[in-house]
Amino acid sequence: MKTRAELIQEAKKNAALEATKHVKNHSIVGLGSGTTVAFAIEALGERVKNENLKIMGIPSSYQAFQLAVQHNIQITTLDEHPIIDITIDGADQITPELYLIKGMGAALAREKIVAATSKYNIIIADESKRVNMLGENNQAVPIEILPFALSLAKNKITALGGVPIVREGKGKLGPIITDNGNVIIDATFGIIQNPQELSAKIKMIPGIVETGFFVNLTNIAYIATENKIEKIQK
Ligand code: 5RP
Repeated sequence: MKTRAELIQEAKKNAALEATKHVKNHSIVGLGSGTTVAFAIEALGERVKNENLKIMGIPSSYQAFQLAVQHNIQITTLDEHPIIDITIDGADQITPELYLIKGMGAALAREKIVAATSKYNIIIADESKRVNMLGENNQAVPIEILPFALSLAKNKITALGGVPIVREGKGKLGPIITDNGNVIIDATFGIIQNPQELSAKIKMIPGIVETGFFVNLTNIAYIATENKIEKIQK
C-alpha cells in the first residue's frame, strides 16, 4: 500500500502531466517554481526529447532555471520574448474563484511577473491546497520586502491587522534571501475577505516588492486527488 506522501507525489505528478498537455509546439513557456512544477518541467523535458517539441522556457526562479537546464529545455528571457504563451505554476492555496496565495518557495515576485506576462496561466496542485477562502488554516501570505524596509514593513503590516514573521533560512542562519536579494515576511491575517484590496494596501508600504496574493491571474487549475483530477476554470 502506498504511503500518504507517495499518494501526494503521485497527485502532483498527475496534475503536472495534465497541464503540460496544453503546451503547443513553438510556445514560450513560463516555468513556475516548487515541487509540483518540478514534475511539469520534467514532463516538458520528456516531450522535448520524445516528440521533438520546440519550446523556450522563462524560469521564475533559480530552482526552475536549474530544472529546465537539467531537462534540456531551452531558456530565454522576458527581454527577448516579452509575451509568454502559457505558464504552469503551483500554489499554496486555491479558492473556487481561482484566487491564490503563492510564495512559500519565496519566488512570488518573479512568479507574478511571469504570470502577468502570460497569455494563459495554469495552476497545478494536490488537493491539500484547495480552500474556500484565502487565509484558512492560518495560512500566511508571503510578502517580499527590501531588507532596508523590514522594520517599517513589520509595523505597517501589524497596523493592517497582520502578524508578520520574518522567514528564517533552513541550513542558513538569519532570514532567507530571495533570488532578488530581498527578504520575506510571512504574515497571517486570518480569513481574508478581499485579497485584492489587502494586497493593494500592503503594496502601498514603501519597500514592499510584491505580495503572494494572485487574483485574476489564473485561467485553469488542475487539482489532483487520489483518483481524479479536478479542473477549475474561469
Ligand atoms: C513558490 C510557490 C510555489 O508554487 C508554491 O509554494 C507551491 O509549491 P509546491 O508545489 O512545492 O507545493 O509559490 O514561490
